[in-house]
Amino acid sequence: MKLIDPIVRFHADIQQIRRDIHAHPELCFEEHRTSEIVAQKLQEWGIPVVRGLGGTGVVGIIKHGDSPRAIGLRADMDALPMQEINTFAHTSQHAGKMHACGHDGHTAMLLGAAHYLSQHRDFDGTVYVIFQPAEEGGGGARRMIEDGLFEKYPMEAVFGMHNWPGVAVGTFGVTAGPMMASSNEFEVIVKGKGAHAAQPHKGIDPIIAAIQIAQSWQTIVSRNANPLESAVLSVTQIHSGSATNVIPDDATLIGTVRTFSTEMLDMVERRMRTIAEHTAAAFDAEVDFRFKRNYPPLINHAKETAFATEVMRAVVGHDKVEAQVEPTMGAEDFAFMLQAKPGCYVFIGNGEGEHRDIGHGLGPCNLHNPSYDFNDDLLPIGATYWVRLAESYLKKTAPDVI
Ligand code: NI
Repeated sequence: MKLIDPIVRFHADIQQIRRDIHAHPELCFEEHRTSEIVAQKLQEWGIPVVRGLGGTGVVGIIKHGDSPRAIGLRADMDALPMQEINTFAHTSQHAGKMHACGHDGHTAMLLGAAHYLSQHRDFDGTVYVIFQPAEEGGGGARRMIEDGLFEKYPMEAVFGMHNWPGVAVGTFGVTAGPMMASSNEFEVIVKGKGAHAAQPHKGIDPIIAAIQIAQSWQTIVSRNANPLESAVLSVTQIHSGSATNVIPDDATLIGTVRTFSTEMLDMVERRMRTIAEHTAAAFDAEVDFRFKRNYPPLINHAKETAFATEVMRAVVGHDKVEAQVEPTMGAEDFAFMLQAKPGCYVFIGNGEGEHRDIGHGLGPCNLHNPSYDFNDDLLPIGATYWVRLAESYLKKTAPDVI
């Protein structure tokens, strides 16, 4: 592994920042303390800072030379609404809030890189370090884009990174094309007509219609989707009724749809609506069909992925980079940035769990688990990757020979 010495020497400082953020988790768009720390540190290191994009977002601007070229490096800052059960010194001090996805570590790795880049500036152009709010369901990336991130700070490409538990420290995973799924939710209300359960002929039973709809939806993935492509349609809640002798007025179906392409998503939504409306009609019922698209699929661009892969290989070694990592049905709002700009999102191995409290679960701890902790061993690896990526992307051109 070829880590950058000054970054390794700065490890203790960055780790202290990481643990402080971990101990003070803040939820979507409430990252006031966290963004204050980020902005203060960047300014302390001589980096001009812009605040307020997407609410609590922070952009640091690190320039060198006259080149108009620019690159964006992005980290997320928000925590999750869940209770931490770790007992180490930096455990969450805010009840019901926890950095269980490692965004504290993502923020710290990018700070480590910014610190080095501000001191060395071995590149020609501008590095924008982007600290976004509200990745966990709030669409903070989209909010920053709507606030003019890419118009105010034009950049050629943008890059993201997420820690990945259960994968060895010192390794990376990436793939060109779809790497994470689109995330969507639906709520479909089947409207019938309530009646006495002993007199079903006087009502329209919404429960029977809802069951038929849920069953028929399962044919969308098995019969309508191309078998070589992936999609998930899960009905996760059915709500109806309140008594054993009453046929209710309505029944509600709630759930999630995941796909790796917008075309597949369009098809699934269209078929769901057709099946719901026509099945309901067959029972003389009606439907109120609500389908909400949250995050689009995360699609890595081929050229930038090849570029990032070479940088990762130069840092950790050729055989430590899985260049065709299995995509995940999880979702990530960096997908919005990759819709707006070319770029690449990578996984950095978070280890098998040895770094956590002893006695808190066995083996690697998953993201969004109450025993999770970001592995501080990653800090210099991730920061080195960010620096080498920026330096190679904005490589200095050789001076003219006179
Ligand atoms: Ni996350």
